[in-house]
Amino acid sequence: MKIHNDLLLRVARGEKTERPPVWLMRQAGRILPQYRSLRASLSGFKELVETPHLAAEVSLQPVDELGVDAAIIFSDILVIPEAMGLPYEMIEKKGPNFPRTIQSSLDIQNLIEGENAADELGYVYKAVEITVNELQGKIPLIGFAGAPWTIFSYMVEGSGSKTFSKAKKLLYKEPALAHQLMAKITATTIQYLKRKIAAGVSIVQVFDSWAGVLSPAQYETFAIPYLKQICEAITAVPVIVFARGAWFAMENINQLDCAVIGLDWNTPPEVARGELGNQRVVQGNLDPCFLYASGEEITAATKEMIRKFAGHHIVNLGHGVYPDTPLENVKTFVNTVKEFKY
Ligand code: CP3
Repeated sequence: MKIHNDLLLRVARGEKTERPPVWLMRQAGRILPQYRSLRASLSGFKELVETPHLAAEVSLQPVDELGVDAAIIFSDILVIPEAMGLPYEMIEKKGPNFPRTIQSSLDIQNLIEGENAADELGYVYKAVEITVNELQGKIPLIGFAGAPWTIFSYMVEGSGSKTFSKAKKLLYKEPALAHQLMAKITATTIQYLKRKIAAGVSIVQVFDSWAGVLSPAQYETFAIPYLKQICEAITAVPVIVFARGAWFAMENINQLDCAVIGLDWNTPPEVARGELGNQRVVQGNLDPCFLYASGEEITAATKEMIRKFAGHHIVNLGHGVYPDTPLENVKTFVNTVKEFKY
């Protein structure tokens, strides 16, 4: 389908544009009153994720309300462990929990992987089809998956963690097993992303949310090779790699065959440009907490960031928008970008 506002795709392909595109990680969610009221009428988070027309509705909410340059399909990275055989629960006000986790070689052997696992996620592909159909080519739809290391850490820990010491322990004590698990997650993620692309997403983002807990050597050994496989396997659309906290691995990430590198808010634009060069397409990276500041401050900081990245830049925050961010401030951020001219 021809996309009317394809600013995001043009920048991802390395083209120069009149202004940068803008979208926000976690734009489809609790910042929007429409989301909160729909969510309150349902049995829980999973009902929303698993009901394609509702997931599509929530994906479209920020398009109407904020006027962003891209939609992201409403889902969660945790559908992958579930499709592989480890169901998750989303506990209100607490977050994800896995009743069963990976503890042994046998647990890894028992996992479903690749196409068989991707086959389990029909509700996601259906939600993508409905969303693309309803967007009518207005803007691109972003598909996403968790990076293998981030998915690995949930499968081993069973929930979020401050240290991820159980997951990291496995890397140090049982490296061969860790590679087996990483390989299964990667094979599944590749099939899953291909199916999402077939269903209609125009670009994909891989979230390595827990990259920053690994040592540089662990990241190089256990994360980079699998990200590389994903980047090499996904050729039909541009790939954005967002590895939060992985400033120490910037050189390795720069070598990945991905169209765009996502930057977190700890990375100063000039440092990123110094390491990546002026032509590398980057995404980010205003501190999400900046959106608690005044409108004037948000406008000034956003413009300053755009000037510092100096092109080949997709505007976003340095991580997901926090649920209690005033909606007016999110709009100020988006509108500042839309009014900007290089
Ligand atoms: O707008 C979007 O970005 C699309 C939707 C989206 C969600 N999760 C919906 C969601 C995306 C891209 C994700 C990715 C995701 N999920 C990541 C990677 C991005 C990141 O933030 O680092 C991670 C680590 C998860 C796992 C996850 N899902 C956690 C830790 C939690 C609980 C914490 C929280 O934010 O509440 C979730 C739940 C979740 N996923 C919510 C939403 C809107 C909140 C659930 C609710 O409605 O109660």
